[in-house]
Amino acid sequence: MADPLYDGLNGPAVPDIPALPRIIAVANQKGGVGKTTTAINLGTALAAVGNRVLIIDLDPQGNASTGLGIARAQRTVNSYHLLIHAEPLAAATLATEIPNLDIVPSGIDLSGIEVELVDEDGREYFLKQSLEAAVSAAGPAYDFVLIDCPPALGLLTVNSLVAAQAVLVPLQCEFFALEGVSQLMQTIERVRAAFNADLEIQGIVLTMFDQRNNLSGMVETDVRDHFGDKVYETVIPRNVRISEAPSHGRPVLIYDTACAGSRAYLNLASEVISRERQTQHRQALARQGGGQPMGAS
Ligand SMILES: Nc1ncnc2c1ncn2[C@@H]1O[C@H](COP(=O)(O)OP(=O)(O)O)[C@@H](O)[C@H]1O
Ligand SMILES: [Mg+2]
Repeated sequence: MADPLYDGLNGPAVPDIPALPRIIAVANQKGGVGKTTTAINLGTALAAVGNRVLIIDLDPQGNASTGLGIARAQRTVNSYHLLIHAEPLAAATLATEIPNLDIVPSGIDLSGIEVELVDEDGREYFLKQSLEAAVSAAGPAYDFVLIDCPPALGLLTVNSLVAAQAVLVPLQCEFFALEGVSQLMQTIERVRAAFNADLEIQGIVLTMFDQRNNLSGMVETDVRDHFGDKVYETVIPRNVRISEAPSHGRPVLIYDTACAGSRAYLNLASEVISRERQTQHRQALARQGGGQPMGAS
């Protein structure tokens, strides 16, 4: 690929790239840690370097939809209809003002879905089935699908983890950053054991890093000690432009392309691409060698 972000990252060419898209769940059951901000801006950065990207807003609050400028009136067909198999993916998908970036908005009905589906067999697979149906009907329309999860470990997040190949975890640089993470890791383990053996952790991204605050540095050290190279090198700084952008219905990369927040999300995109390529390379080699593709790490 001609884009500079792709160059020099990935070593030898991948002989046999598995079927696209790569589906990444952005998950953490804590609210306010930067999931939605990461889904929007990582999605925009991946699109900016030439990937076709779909964001699925799976939070009833609909912040990803709002942050990408989708008015409520445009959300009549949304991720709820996808989950209950009432509409195909294409019917729920809207273009955004960013080239190559589409969104499935959320709807308020999502908040009742846990109760609504309580007696349905296989309800953990409903999102996966919708995405697979779209690929078999029309071929892979996207290189990346990012799922913006709600702040809970309930059925919506489980559906994302079952549909995804990888999970990306934003952690806010604050005192209780690691609190609750073991619960999230347990949920990931349970999803692997019961539904999706190949689910990987794409990575952990530190968000809202404040250089003037010693605590941020201490949290970073702690998280890196704990999770090692699962933590992306890129750290997302606390940046006022990032927090202003959603009220303009735009990703920060469009709102202020040159700010520190935008640069950080571009760097994160390049790390995500690099890790995806490494995964694909490893899987291709495993297939060539007749071995099993490596699953969860
Ligand atoms: N790097 C950042 N710098 C400043 N504000 C941020 C940053 N990341 C997120 N925010 C703000 O913090 C709040 C919570 O972020 P959000 O992405 O909505 O979290 P979540 O989806 O995990 O609930 C939002 O108001 C958002 O604009
Ligand atoms: Mg959110």
